[in-house]
Amino acid sequence: MAAENENFITGLDIGTSKVCAVVGVIKDDSIEIIGLGQAKSYGLRRGVIVNIEGTVKSIQEAIKEAESMSGIKINSVFTGIAGSHIKGFNSEGVIAVKGDEITQSDIERVIDAARAVAIPADREVLHIIPQDFIVDGQDGIKDPVGMSAVRLEAKVHIITGAVASAQNIVKACNRAGLDVRDIIIEQLASAEAVLNDDEKELGVAIVDVGAGTTDIAVFQNDTIIHTGVITIAGDHITNDIAVGLRTPIESAEKIKIEHGCALKSLIEEEEIIKVPGIGGRTPQEIPKTLLTDIIEPRVEELFMLVKREIMKSGIYDSLASGIVLTGGTAIMEGMVELGESIFEMPVRRGFPKIRHGLADLVNSPMYATSVGLLLFGAKNIKKNIFPKKEKDTFDNVLNRMKKWFKEFF
Ligand SMILES: Nc1ncnc2c1ncn2[C@@H]1O[C@H](COP(=O)(O)OP(=O)(O)OP(=O)(O)O)[C@@H](O)[C@H]1O
Ligand SMILES: [Mg+2]
Repeated sequence: MAAENENFITGLDIGTSKVCAVVGVIKDDSIEIIGLGQAKSYGLRRGVIVNIEGTVKSIQEAIKEAESMSGIKINSVFTGIAGSHIKGFNSEGVIAVKGDEITQSDIERVIDAARAVAIPADREVLHIIPQDFIVDGQDGIKDPVGMSAVRLEAKVHIITGAVASAQNIVKACNRAGLDVRDIIIEQLASAEAVLNDDEKELGVAIVDVGAGTTDIAVFQNDTIIHTGVITIAGDHITNDIAVGLRTPIESAEKIKIEHGCALKSLIEEEEIIKVPGIGGRTPQEIPKTLLTDIIEPRVEELFMLVKREIMKSGIYDSLASGIVLTGGTAIMEGMVELGESIFEMPVRRGFPKIRHGLADLVNSPMYATSVGLLLFGAKNIKKNIFPKKEKDTFDNVLNRMKKWFKEFF
């Protein structure tokens, strides 16, 4: 097996339903997918690791498969973080410029000023993402270095999370024999994979509906305006089906994937589906509308919560590019149609926009996060943000996460 070198990158998505490793190689201006490995996830609840051993096993299984497909020995990964403990908010800072013109150190000072807000003791700043710089009152400046000015202001989006949760991610990866090159919140990874530049410019919300969590990010003018997490997703739909049809979780999951539809008006009244019998009993035939009657209210509830969350951004009414649904649950029939009626704006499904190599293997909304992690890694490796081989302790990872502003500009 070939050794990993700086041109090979692996995105590792540790999700609630699956752990997924996508390997890519940077070739000139494109990224080629060369491997995919996937394993059932045993150690997570609602996006958060609750069982290290189980998670390590899933990671090892996914990595092994990705190694055998790609022929590359994987030593390090870009991975994600999610869960209801993740909170994003906006902040501002202002400083007096020391010399005649703005330097990199002024940028760091103004970002420090913006992050000087009270953070509860059990949380830690994970990312600081600059939204805008204001130079002597002039806003909309992306790169103020070198400009003459006396006053510099920064608007930033700060993301905090439970320290223990990030630590467990690093721990699980390390125990699986992997270094963690960076941890990225999952909705930003998914955004990297499925959103177009013009959508981010005009205003768009990405909604990644997975198994355990629904992760949201709102963009406008090419910057992050708002992030949020809702702990309702595909698993809840499955549970509702299990209860409603009195069937075990596994068969409820199967029925959902085969026949699930989020909008009743899309199906024929007389359509019949087969439900596997429990404990050797004969399979039952039921009208499909019975299934939709269970799914539709749950998705409706979820979308109402999503709507409320996006409204917190203050730009709901000016999201010209509407909403992009991704994550495994976005695959379900009727999600886009029900979404359009609740959000009252255009909705589309987000597929990873990657074309080279084995791209067809990851051409599904459920791979948005893993492909996004890979793309994020590739982008930043090109900018030489990650020095080769420094020992990857948790502190190093956390320090890098906090220095995100360098990566975004
Ligand atoms: N065809 C389908 N129809 C309906 N639901 C589907 C379909 N395919 C996958 N799903 C659902 O998508 C969910 C898995 O999505 P995904 O892989 O994005 O989640 P995850 O990343 O493991 O979880 P999370 O991001 O919440 O931690 C599961 O609930 C699964 O039932
Ligand atoms: Mg996910």
